[in-house]
Amino acid sequence: MTLTLSDPDLFRTQAYIDGKWVDADSGETFAVIDPATGEEIAQVPRMGAAETRRAIEAAERAQVGWRKLLAKERAKILRDLADAMLANADDLATILTAEQGKPHAEAKAEIAYAASFFEWFGEEAKRVSGETIPAPMPDRRIVVLREPIGVTVGITPWNFPSAMPTRKAAPALAAGCSMVLKPAEQTPLSALSVMVLAERVGLPAGVLSVVTGDAEDAPKIGGEMTSNPIVRKLSFTGSTEVGKLLMGQCAKTIKKVSLELGGNAPFLVFDDADLDDVIAAMMVAKFRNSGQTCISANRVLVQDGIHDAFVERMVELASGITVAPGFDPAAQIGPLIDQAALDKVLAHVGDAVERGGDVLVGGGIHEQGRTFFSPTIITGADMDWQMSNEETFGPVAAIHRFSDEAAAIRTANATPFGLAAYLFSQDHARIWRASEGLEYGMIAINTGFISTEVAPFGGIKESGIGREGSQHGLDDFLEYKYLAWAGVRG
Ligand code: SIN
Repeated sequence: MTLTLSDPDLFRTQAYIDGKWVDADSGETFAVIDPATGEEIAQVPRMGAAETRRAIEAAERAQVGWRKLLAKERAKILRDLADAMLANADDLATILTAEQGKPHAEAKAEIAYAASFFEWFGEEAKRVSGETIPAPMPDRRIVVLREPIGVTVGITPWNFPSAMPTRKAAPALAAGCSMVLKPAEQTPLSALSVMVLAERVGLPAGVLSVVTGDAEDAPKIGGEMTSNPIVRKLSFTGSTEVGKLLMGQCAKTIKKVSLELGGNAPFLVFDDADLDDVIAAMMVAKFRNSGQTCISANRVLVQDGIHDAFVERMVELASGITVAPGFDPAAQIGPLIDQAALDKVLAHVGDAVERGGDVLVGGGIHEQGRTFFSPTIITGADMDWQMSNEETFGPVAAIHRFSDEAAAIRTANATPFGLAAYLFSQDHARIWRASEGLEYGMIAINTGFISTEVAPFGGIKESGIGREGSQHGLDDFLEYKYLAWAGVRG
C-alpha cells in the first residue's frame, strides 16, 4: 500500500536509536496493517533487549547535555517540534489513519492534540521553580531543587498513536530527562514520523529514541526497560493487567511509575439534564475513535424521567453515524483496530443479549465488513453484564435505568476502576454532590470532551498512578532535592 504524502520522507520504517535510523540486529521485521483494508502498510524492525539496552545507554549519555541546556533552549526545540507537527499535520494524519483507522479529520485533530504537548510543556519547562523553606535553626537555610529524574521509558498504546507518545515525551524532555519509547506494535509509524521532525528541529541524538517490536517482542523490550538500572522512570498507557505486570517489574529497581490504565467510565444522565448537550457528548464520549479510548463511556446510567427521551435520541444518533474507512471524507467512525478487538465487542454484545438486553440499533459487524462495527444501542443493562465490568472498546452504548441519585453514584463506583466519569445535570447542588461522590480521577460535567494538555489526565484505584498534562504531568518527571545548608552565622 502506498500513501500519498506531500513529504514522503515522513514515512519511515526503521526504528530511531541514538539519532540513527536502524534495523533490528536480527534483520527481522513485522507487518503494520491498515485495519480498514487488511493491506500491509509497512515492515518495521523486530527489536528486543539488546537494541533497547543500546537506546537506554544512549539516553544516559544524551541526558547529561540535555539537562544542562537552559530551559528556554529546550523549550525552543519543543516549540519548533510542535510547529513542525502542525505544518505537516495532513501527512502525519494520513500515516495515522492508515495504521489506526480513525477518520482523517479526527486523525488531524489528534495531531494538533499531540503537538500541543510539545508546545505546552516547552513553555512550562521555564517555570520549574524550587523552594526555600524557613529553617528551624538560626544558622540553617533550606533549599529545595527540582531536578530531572534522569533516563525514562515510555510504552504507548495504539488508540492514539501520536498523542500518547507526545504526552509522555514532551514532559520528559521539558524536564530535562531523556526517553526511550516503545510504540504499540499496531501503530509504530506515527511515532516514527514525529522522530523525523524531531531530528529536523535539532533534537540531540539519544534524547528521544523509538524502539519497535511486535507483540512477541514486547516482553523483551519491556523487560529490559523495567530491569535496566539506568532507567529511573516508566510511563505506561495501556491495560491494567499489563500495568500491574510492569509495576511489579519496576519494583526491583524502585523506578518511579506513571500508569494510565483501563477505565470503566460511567455516564450519568439525571432527569434535569439538557438532552442536546447529552447527545452531543455521547457522540464524543461513546463514538469517538469507534469507542476505543480509555475514557469512553462504558456504562450509561439514565434516570427514569429522561430515560425514554434519551433512548429515542440515542437511536437517532447511532442510526445516523457514517461508518466508513478513515480516508472516506464522510467517515465518522472507522474500523476497530483488529480481530481481537472485534471478538471482544461481539462477545460483550452476545453476553448482553443472552442476559436479556434489547438491541435497538446495530448489534453486529457493519456492512463495510472486516472489523467495522455498527453503532449499537442496547437497553435494559445490568451490572452483571460483561460490558458493565470490562471496557468494551467499541461503539456500543449499554443503557442502565435508575431512579435514585445516591444509588446511581454507588453503581457508578462499583468497579475497581476510576479513570473518567461523566455527569449531566442543570442542578448545581447535585453536580457538586455527584462530583464529590464519584471515585474517579476526572469528572466531565455536561460535556463529553475532557482531553487537553493543560489539565491533569489520570485515574485512581486500578486506573493508574500519576497524571499526564498540566504542571502535574511535568512534576512526574522531576525529583525534589533538599539542601540542608548549615553554618550561616554572623
Ligand atoms: C486514552 O484513551 O488513554 C486517551 C484519551 C485521550 O487522551 O483523549
